[in-house]
Amino acid sequence: MSSNPSRRDPYDALPYVSMPITYSQPALLAAQAHLRGIDAPPAETASVLEIGAASGGNIIPLAVRYPRAHFHGVDLAAAHVEIGRRSITELGLSNVTLEQGDIVDADFGGRHFDYIICHGVFSWAPPEAQRAILKVCADTLSDKGIAAISYNVFPGWHVRNVIRDICLEHTRKGGPPRSQVAAVRALLKGIAEASSDNDPYGAIVRAEAARLSARPASYILGELLAVYNQPFHIREVISQAGDHGLAYLGEADLMSSVPEYFAPMAAQRIRATAGSSPIAVEQYADMFSGRTFRRSLFTHAECRAQPPSPTPLLSLHITANPRAQATDAAVEPALAAVHEMLTKQYPASVAVADLVAAAGQAVLPALYEMVARGRASVSTVPVALGLADQSRPVLWRVARADAATGQPWVTNLLHAPVLLNPLLRALGPLMDGAKTRDQLVSALEAALRSGALSETDLPRIENGGAANRLASTVDRLVAHCARNGLLAP
Ligand SMILES: C[S@@+](CC[C@H](N)C(=O)[O-])C[C@H]1O[C@@H](n2cnc3c(N)ncnc32)[C@H](O)[C@@H]1O
Repeated sequence: MSSNPSRRDPYDALPYVSMPITYSQPALLAAQAHLRGIDAPPAETASVLEIGAASGGNIIPLAVRYPRAHFHGVDLAAAHVEIGRRSITELGLSNVTLEQGDIVDADFGGRHFDYIICHGVFSWAPPEAQRAILKVCADTLSDKGIAAISYNVFPGWHVRNVIRDICLEHTRKGGPPRSQVAAVRALLKGIAEASSDNDPYGAIVRAEAARLSARPASYILGELLAVYNQPFHIREVISQAGDHGLAYLGEADLMSSVPEYFAPMAAQRIRATAGSSPIAVEQYADMFSGRTFRRSLFTHAECRAQPPSPTPLLSLHITANPRAQATDAAVEPALAAVHEMLTKQYPASVAVADLVAAAGQAVLPALYEMVARGRASVSTVPVALGLADQSRPVLWRVARADAATGQPWVTNLLHAPVLLNPLLRALGPLMDGAKTRDQLVSALEAALRSGALSETDLPRIENGGAANRLASTVDRLVAHCARNGLLAP
């Protein structure tokens, strides 16, 4: 791939923080395809391409978890690729590569990919790059492969464009990226405070200023100050994909694909307005909900998908956060048993077949509803995790490497970021399975003596003497890691 200097990426000036993108895991994409009647290639041995992979924060942890799969990332920004290649070398990986280049010039030499991930790129790249992304998907996706592409959508983004317009106008003279972000934050706050309570403009700016105050500088740079940010009507994206021989499969989560779950208050009206066309249902769902973002899945047009249904769940693995589970379990004993099994295992997964064997076939529709309501996620590969009782705790190797870098988060085995606290940052790199809890307590003592940790970094533990308190601190840390999917089995 050539590196055309005229298409140099603005991220070279301020690198993007590359993180795991949970939904893009091939085992989750395969499960979504499976629910719609398509047997996508096995995730364990898949060949995966990520377009706009940044520094590999998404594919590098996957390469560690799936040593028989192969991952290739392409990114325009040389700075991203350099950072990512350093991580690959440090982790000693041979099944993941990162290449610097423009997707417009891509030539994969006849290679095919079972999964193509393109997150946070399509709307934010010029039209020739958008066409190239669809062409690469059409040309290199294997027969039953799945492409996952995210993008901004209208009409929801018309509202956000009010804010983007303010931001672009205010920073049109340029300047260092961080100063631009600070300037637009201050301006939006000022407009929000000064605008009338009674008009829609003030309401939009107030809501957006409040939302943006919680978002990082990279978000403001990438969405509001980016040179390109082209939202689409979903119908246009489906039509452009169709021109390349790709078919729309649905959204990356079941909930977003079904108006009854995604927009329950509006579902009846959406269906009545849209009629029988599934594409019109998608389009009107965006109009009724004001959704701003989509994560759409595509296959080759020849793949014949079915409407999603409960039966394919039987060969999948399910993970359900106890906090997200429905509270009506008590009234339905079979379902209560299922919730108990899922809660006991969480955050590890349970095979749906095991749940059905234990509680009966009748729980299948209820499990499907949990998935469709976004209360559980499904995967073709089980999620196995270490438990809090490990005598020599093993923080999985990507998290150990992440903790040692100084970044504020680590990637867990559910492929999600977990915020680092000072204790985990200090002891995490030592939790390699070789050290006993007593040795971790000694390391904690040493860290307190050296000033690397202070008393305020420790949890409040009322009972016991100093030694007990440190041992309890290590126990709590290990339990925290287990709860957050950070311990290797
Ligand atoms: C917002 S970041 C998203 C990174 C990553 N996919 C994620 O979601 O975390 C967009 C990335 O796409 C890359 N990119 C933009 N245009 C590209 C192009 N034409 N070819 C390859 N990469 C591109 C940028 O360098 C940047 O790393």
